[in-house]
Amino acid sequence: MLGVCYYPEHWPEPWWADDARRMRELGIAVVRVGEFAWSRLEPERDRFDFAWLHRALDTLGAAGLEVVMSTPTATPPKWLMDMHPEIAPVDADGVVRGFGSRRHTSFSSPIWIEESRRITEIVAREFGAHPAVTGWQLDNEYGCHDTVLSYGPHDLAAFRQWLRRRYQSAEQLNEAWGNVFWSMEVGSFDEVALPVGAVTETSPAARLEFWRFASEQIVRYSEMQAEIVRRFSPGRFVTHNFMGLFHDFDHFACGEHLDFATWDSYPIGFTERFPFSEEERRAYAFTGHPDMAPFHHDLYRAVGRDRWWVMEQQAGPVNWAPWNPIPRPGQIRLFTWEAIAHGAERVMYFRWRQAPFGQEQMHSGLNLPDNSSLSPGGSEVAEAARELARLGPLPASRRSDTALVFDYEASWFTRIQPQGRDYDYGELAYRWYEAARRLGLDVDFVPPGADLGGYRLVLVPSLPFVSDAALRAFRNSEAAIVFGPRSGSKTRHFAIPENLPPGPLAELIGFRVVEVASLRPGLVEPVTGNVSGEVSRWREHIEPRAWVSVEATFRDGSPALLRAGRFTYLGGWGDASLLGGMISSVAARIALPLMTLPENVRVRRRGNLNFAFNYGSDAYEVPLEAERIVVGTKVLPPSGVAAWY
Ligand code: GAL
Repeated sequence: MLGVCYYPEHWPEPWWADDARRMRELGIAVVRVGEFAWSRLEPERDRFDFAWLHRALDTLGAAGLEVVMSTPTATPPKWLMDMHPEIAPVDADGVVRGFGSRRHTSFSSPIWIEESRRITEIVAREFGAHPAVTGWQLDNEYGCHDTVLSYGPHDLAAFRQWLRRRYQSAEQLNEAWGNVFWSMEVGSFDEVALPVGAVTETSPAARLEFWRFASEQIVRYSEMQAEIVRRFSPGRFVTHNFMGLFHDFDHFACGEHLDFATWDSYPIGFTERFPFSEEERRAYAFTGHPDMAPFHHDLYRAVGRDRWWVMEQQAGPVNWAPWNPIPRPGQIRLFTWEAIAHGAERVMYFRWRQAPFGQEQMHSGLNLPDNSSLSPGGSEVAEAARELARLGPLPASRRSDTALVFDYEASWFTRIQPQGRDYDYGELAYRWYEAARRLGLDVDFVPPGADLGGYRLVLVPSLPFVSDAALRAFRNSEAAIVFGPRSGSKTRHFAIPENLPPGPLAELIGFRVVEVASLRPGLVEPVTGNVSGEVSRWREHIEPRAWVSVEATFRDGSPALLRAGRFTYLGGWGDASLLGGMISSVAARIALPLMTLPENVRVRRRGNLNFAFNYGSDAYEVPLEAERIVVGTKVLPPSGVAAWY
């Protein structure tokens, strides 16, 4: 079940066989290689050196390791950039983002797409039939380092083409985007400019379409690579390693052409980066926030249509967060088991050995940079591997009772017009997920419009644009559905719906939002009624229809929480107590069992195997007979894990 990311090109060849042997000894079964190796595979145009990588694959294979080979398109070499400097992406200020790190390409550059095709075919032909290669990772972290939106001439040309296919005429585009506003009308598609670099805010409709376009460019690019790899390396799986805290393109759409999804899990680094309070950041500095890895595990299980791996697991300090603490002892083992509890087929660590050179020399690995010994994280991997071997085959993950509708476009809508500086869709979705998990619920993610059949509780933290498919799915489901703020507040083309928000959702739960307020930090609005708590950041002024019941109100008596049959709507950014109370009251109505857990303990079921994870600093005792525990102990120390059937 375990694997590791390995860079043979970073190490003397005489080390490889020993590395492979020690990987096996540690309990590693799979090795990912090659994603940044272009300059060594093709040092000059059309001069190839494949022999070293064949020898590396032979060495790994001979040790009984499986190999995930990668296409090297995240790091095109210098000679290519010199040959075609125009393939580099351009930032919003018009600055070219050139050679010197990675991802220095635009997904819309025709030359880059051609070059990608070429190298993908070359490596797939060369290594696709190697007996150690069982599958492929395409590229590395699409969109990393802010590379989804690029503003160069090729991006503009491709965007105009894309618009031509979508709109019959410039008049229709003007109409759809509301271009009469500020005299933004265009006479032809050739007059459309990139929505950037103007005196002040550019058209929100244009920005949204540009984002949709950019997202599709990545999906097409990925499909192109997948098709080539499948052609030249038949019988092998094709995947991609997605990122955490990253919503810049539609991952559900990208998951469709992959055999399964993988993601790169750095929960402690992400906790530094996430907009937590300072207090939370300090509390979870050494463990990561208890929902950080799980949120993404559950998201990528959906992206991979129930099949997923962790491709890169943090195994010690990283180098890229504002601060990079050492994980608390036990935490790397906990991360391993937690991924498995959420259904991971494999957990691969980043990286085999810390590199003593280069940008990531302060990033830990399973081995120290001098190769003298395992790192502390490496030793925990050895322990997890032994436990896994003892436990034997694991049951499959089952569908949960609870679903969370996650929408990439929601992130774009609210980043284009946040209306309040701290209104962040990713954070909102995370807080709803956290509230559900604190009540002991397992959560599946679903894209908007997906069939909701079988779910009993559906959480929709926010869905600004409700498509016909999404509305149908809500209508056809039998679940209790809870909507959060700004749901139904926009049309497809970023306008306020004719009937006011919640637009089409008014059919399910009758009300309209007549005004909205964003609230600066420190301003809160108490909410009381059947559930109580506080709203900060965002509150709506709602006029309910007579058939809708008001479950809780703001201080001025206006509705905060509404219900009509199985549909509930919360008109604000709720705190933990409001979200917890709201989910509890809905769960009580549908008799969905909840659990009372300490604040920093989480549980998760994988089939009939149950898990508990202790992120707190006090011990936690699992309330059952000690004999039933198959992993860990009945009393979980800090960073402890227990599993039982
Ligand atoms: C990932 C990336 C790796 C490495 C790692 C460091 O985002 O895929 O190549 O940079 O981060 O944490």
